[in-house]
Amino acid sequence: MVVNLRSLILLLSISLSLLFGRSQICESGLGYCDSDSRLSSKILIKGGTVVNADHQEVADVYVEDGVIVSVRPNIKVGDGVRVVYAIGKFVMPGGIDPHTHLAMEFMGTETIDNFFSGQAAALAGGTTTHIDFVIPVDGSLSKGYEAYVEKSKLTCMDYGFHMAITKWDDIVSKEMEIMVEEKGINSFKFFMAYKGSLMISDELLLEGLKKCKSLGALAMVHAENGDAVFEGQKRMIELGITGPEGHALSRPPVLEGEATARAIRLAAFVNTPLYIVHVMSIDAMEEIARAQKSGLKVIGEPVVSGLVLDDSGLWDPDFITAAKFVMSPPIRASGHGKALQAALSTGILKLVGTDHCTFNSTQKSFGIDDFRKIPNGVNGLEERMHLVWDTMVESGQISVTDYVRVTSTECAKLFNIYPRKGAIRAGSDADIIIFNQNSTFHITANSHHSRSDTNVYEGRSGKGKVEVTIAGGKIVWENEELKVVPGSGRYISMPPFSYLYHGIDKADKNYLTSLKAPVNRIKQSR
Ligand code: URP
Ligand code: ZN
Ligand code: ZN
Repeated sequence: MVVNLRSLILLLSISLSLLFGRSQICESGLGYCDSDSRLSSKILIKGGTVVNADHQEVADVYVEDGVIVSVRPNIKVGDGVRVVYAIGKFVMPGGIDPHTHLAMEFMGTETIDNFFSGQAAALAGGTTTHIDFVIPVDGSLSKGYEAYVEKSKLTCMDYGFHMAITKWDDIVSKEMEIMVEEKGINSFKFFMAYKGSLMISDELLLEGLKKCKSLGALAMVHAENGDAVFEGQKRMIELGITGPEGHALSRPPVLEGEATARAIRLAAFVNTPLYIVHVMSIDAMEEIARAQKSGLKVIGEPVVSGLVLDDSGLWDPDFITAAKFVMSPPIRASGHGKALQAALSTGILKLVGTDHCTFNSTQKSFGIDDFRKIPNGVNGLEERMHLVWDTMVESGQISVTDYVRVTSTECAKLFNIYPRKGAIRAGSDADIIIFNQNSTFHITANSHHSRSDTNVYEGRSGKGKVEVTIAGGKIVWENEELKVVPGSGRYISMPPFSYLYHGIDKADKNYLTSLKAPVNRIKQSR
């Protein structure tokens, strides 16, 4: 039996190295290290400053069997407990990334990071849960779901699913019910761009919004006017602009602002909450601010690339350097990022994602003669926690508690998995990072854990470092070394009717009363 198990593990080891190439897994070559004391199921984190979204205090954190058992000063433990000292450091909930695309088939290819390499990268950067977008197969939600169950077999951290809606009929409508009621999906994304592939019409969006509302699911939109983008792309090609800069020029901020405004108005018309993914421009952000001021439940999600980069890279004379920055909506001219940071600090924008959707140089080169063929997407899963800290906390724009809120807690609340996730408190999952604000990080494709050969943050350094990541109660990142177990990640079911739905029924009732209709008219014969 033991021999058989060993051969099984060896076989797994070989397949993993073939499958995942340079991803760093355990030194044993297996990513299977349960003899290692670091994988102890009992951990005491001593003397750190424990930070939640609403409070921080110096306390110990005791973890057993994947769950936080106790958070208080001076916890005493017996033998068999791994003690990790965190004096002078922050102990925070692991990051939750609301927006990733692992193993996504898109623009004629598939993202280079699958559920193993993408998650390994995430853990090395302090993110312990992510929510990935299931893409339907030929419009079928159930086929898409099955495909993603297969893709996510070797996960090494917890994850959940959103689902994209790409066509509309009675079957899709019924399948949305199944996804929510049986499969643990509580959010659906509608693409207002990518004409000819993922893009949907306003008519479909309205049907989708109504259905989301009836299910208590959160409607999400990629807000760009796809018809106008198509027109802009033709214009650039006619002008002879075929390089990556044509990508940004063909889909300016006004098209993002227009679609954001339209989606907000349609969601308001249906009276259902709306989540705008990857807010990249002042134009979109201002629409969200206006909607919130008028009382609408609209959530804006900036992504790290939009917060910290500007569009100058797209004008780089080297094609590969420029193409790696191609994503949609595009990374904007300087000024937009700063405004998005300010909106994050004042609460107009609520949480930070990555839209991690990586393609390597060979894949980006598909568009060497035509920017329309460059697969859209950038990295960020490994970098998000560091870049948000450096950009937002080190600059004094947000507090440490706000940092926890925008990188973890708000996401857990919006997708209804709080306080299981997004908190350091008794009963929560033991997804924890130890963060040293006096250390530094450095980003380069030479040492990152993504399988991509490029990194849009290449050469960046900054203050703060995730020194230890604990996921599901196991230390998976320590001393710059990853120890991950393929297959150890769990699918996290997300129930419908998050806090955004509180009061919607009352507002509906008020609306009906306000109509003062139908008017009861006495039919008189003339
Ligand atoms: O460029 C991007 N954003 N690629 C991923 C697909 C999407 O629109 O989120
Ligand atoms: Zn999108
Ligand atoms: Zn995306």
